[in-house]
Amino acid sequence: MIETVHVNLPGRAYDVVIGPGLLAEAGTRITPFLRRPKVTIVTEENVAAVHLAALQQGLEETGITSEALVLPAGESTKSWPFLEQTVEWLLAQKVERGDIVIAFGGGVIGDLVGFAAATVRRGVRFVQIPTSLLAQVDSSVGGKTGINSPSGKNLIGAFHQPTLVLADIDLLSTLTERDFLSGYGEVAKYGMLGDSHFFDWLESDGPNLKHLKDVDGAMPEDKIAARVWAVTRSVQMKADIVERDETEQGDRALLNLGHTFCHALEAATGYSDRLLHGEGVAIGCALAFELSARMGLCSQEEPSRVRAHLKEMGMKTDLSDIDGDLPDAETLLALMGQDKKVVDGQLRFILARGIGDAFVSADVPADKVLGVLRDALALR
Ligand code: GLY
Repeated sequence: MIETVHVNLPGRAYDVVIGPGLLAEAGTRITPFLRRPKVTIVTEENVAAVHLAALQQGLEETGITSEALVLPAGESTKSWPFLEQTVEWLLAQKVERGDIVIAFGGGVIGDLVGFAAATVRRGVRFVQIPTSLLAQVDSSVGGKTGINSPSGKNLIGAFHQPTLVLADIDLLSTLTERDFLSGYGEVAKYGMLGDSHFFDWLESDGPNLKHLKDVDGAMPEDKIAARVWAVTRSVQMKADIVERDETEQGDRALLNLGHTFCHALEAATGYSDRLLHGEGVAIGCALAFELSARMGLCSQEEPSRVRAHLKEMGMKTDLSDIDGDLPDAETLLALMGQDKKVVDGQLRFILARGIGDAFVSADVPADKVLGVLRDALALR
């Protein structure tokens, strides 16, 4: 039940391996890339408490020794002080150009460690072992690395592709339901942006992905297979897009479906637990489909279908699902202007002609966006 997606970038090609039991196989899978049997691991405290010993054992079984740096969990780790700590620690470990650094955690760790690897000795190789659903289907693949700036999220970084990604779906079973569903926002996004059949499948099988354990605590084979497929199809779609447009000159922006709304909502909620990234993506996708319908690009059934599926999954779908106050529509629109996807002062939106048929548009009237936001806020 192991799947491999090859990311075919000339000179920087790599595999994303997806399946159960991959931590135990980490040594066997990483050995072909090592020049000496020694690696460094950077992780965070929650992941370390539950999974670090298993990873180190999986490495030791093939004779690979490892040292680990355990950072605090949370978005604030993706910042200058922890980048400095990580880089200095890697240098203190005498990491060489031919060595491998392992990023072991969710999106925060993957982005931070990838960026540290991009800069240490002008670039060392790194392996991503993503532990959250969001990281498995999105942030560990495609080479976007970086940290946040006081001026905004992800504003400092580099494209640095990993050497290998090991997406062990067993690790998803230790996520809270909220974290799992947040990652599911990105999974559903792939269906909405480019594969209506995948969206059909998610409508029928998505609810099964959440509850993996039988009464006796075992994982049923069909549910493991469904989880592997959900991650594999998502990664395949991301790999296809990244191969076409690694540095986001065009098509890669499709991966930002829902993200322009999401980034404004994340800024408005202070990047706090009030709204997790994937929750913002899910609400943002519903709003992007609503905007598309109001611009006459798709029928009104499409946003209704998007919202119905997200609700069925138990996800946040509407602005009314966000606790606490939100600013008015004009302020949210202004927050969208801070988005990295602004080109020549023009906001770029990802719109859709239907589920599975998204496109990039720089031609979205501000009054239409304001209308969608005002109506969504009025329902709170
Ligand atoms: N998460 C969007 C991208 O990798 O381009």
